[in-house]
Order: sequence, then structure tokens, then C-alpha cells
Amino acid sequence: MTNITNQMKPLGKIIAVANQKGGVGKTTTSINLSTGLANLGYKVLLKDADTTGSATLWFDNIYSSLLDGESVPFDFEIANKTSLSRNREKYDFVIIDTPPQETMIMDASIKVADYVVIPTAPTSLDIDRVIEILRLIEDKPCKVLLTQIKVNTITYRAAREMFEDQDIDFFNTGIAHREAVIHSIGQLPNDDAMRDYRMIVNELLVDLDCEVNS
Ligand SMILES: Nc1ncnc2c1ncn2[C@@H]1O[C@H](COP(=O)(O)OP(=O)(O)OP(=O)(O)O)[C@@H](O)[C@H]1O
Ligand SMILES: [Mg+2]
Repeated sequence: MTNITNQMKPLGKIIAVANQKGGVGKTTTSINLSTGLANLGYKVLLKDADTTGSATLWFDNIYSSLLDGESVPFDFEIANKTSLSRNREKYDFVIIDTPPQETMIMDASIKVADYVVIPTAPTSLDIDRVIEILRLIEDKPCKVLLTQIKVNTITYRAAREMFEDQDIDFFNTGIAHREAVIHSIGQLPNDDAMRDYRMIVNELLVDLDCEVNS
């Protein structure tokens, strides 16, 4: 693995993965984005700001599933409201996994972020919640990420059209509902799990004016 930023000052960019709705793929997205960016040679820190600690659980359990010679390609830290941006100067990317419902920590994560990723399922009930969070984000760079989608379905098409009609930015690639993604909780995401997320990483790097090296 080559480190793109080997000799350079770390980029120090914070990406918050946020949505008040539970179960929309925030933790899955945080882990896969961290892996994808780290695999490109960026120095990445994943922060778990969710007190229920799904990402922490993932990180604690991952070591038992690592094969010989494998290692987690990014660093990990538990964060609270006051430590969200701590250590940002040491990393190219700090990814914050935020909790559902606890608006205070989510608001604080959005405030310190350079960019917000809003994962959502494509149903209309889920999309209503996206509109709520977009109001909180105001004019910070952000994009909606459609997750757990089934391509070529009316639901997915309707969700994309709805965002287009309302001029809401969304990632061009949707994250398909895949067994491999479910299994990426409990092990390092494999190529199958990372397939869609790699496209998201590339889009994110373009949005953040960073080097795309894939
Ligand atoms: N692309 C996908 N394909 C299949 N299953 C997925 C996908 N993305 C997420 N899931 C599954 O959906 C469930 C919820 O995902 P996840 O825990 O990432 O959501 P969350 O938004 O972090 O939830 P919470 O709000 O409770 O923190 C998990 O069981 C996860 O494995
Ligand atoms: Mg979570």
C-alpha cells in the first residue's frame, strides 16, 4: 500500500456520517469509508461518537477474525461531544460515526465536519428524515447516500427522482443490499462488500478536492 500523503502534512478533513434515523447504515458506511480511504493510502481515524458503540464493538471483535498478516488499516477512537475533532491534525481523514436520536452529539459532529454523508434507505418515510437533517446541516458540503437499495426497483428510482426534483445532492452510486455488506460487520470489509463503497470514496475525494488514486 502506498501512502499518498507520506511526506505531506495530513489533510485533517472531518467527515461526519449522520442521520437521526436508526438502522440506515451509518456504522456500516463509517467502517467501509474508513477502509476504502485507508486502502488508498490515506491516514484515517474512525471515531465512534455513538454511545451504544456499534463501531467500538466492531473494532473490539475484529482482531479475532484477522488472518495472518492482516491488520486494520485505520485507527480507532471513542469520542464524545468535546473530543470530536481531537487528533484531526494527525490524520488525512477523521470519520465520525454518529448515533441515532441523540441530536446533541449529531449536531456537534456536523459542526466540526468538513463534509457530511447522510446514509438513508430509499423509502419515502426515510427520505422525510433526510429533509429534517438537511435543515440542520444548512450550507455545509453534504451528500445523501442511498443504502440497502435494490437496483432497478421503482422505490430506488423514485428516491433518486425525488432528490433530483428537490435539488438535493446525492451520491451517484447507491449501496446495494448485499450479504457481503452485512458480513463486513465482524470482519474487515472484503472486495465484494467494498464494491459500491469504492465508488463513494472516489466521489467523496473529488468533492473534497483530494487526489483520487484508484
Ligand atoms: N448495503 C447493505 N446491505 C445489507 N445490509 C446492510 C447494508 N447496509 C447496512 N446493512 C445492515 O443494516 C443494519 C443497520 O446498519 P448499521 O448498523 O450500519 O446502521 P446504523 O444507521 O449505524 O444504525 P444505528 O442508527 O442503530 O446506529 C445492520 O444489520 C447492517 O448489517
Ligand atoms: Mg450505528
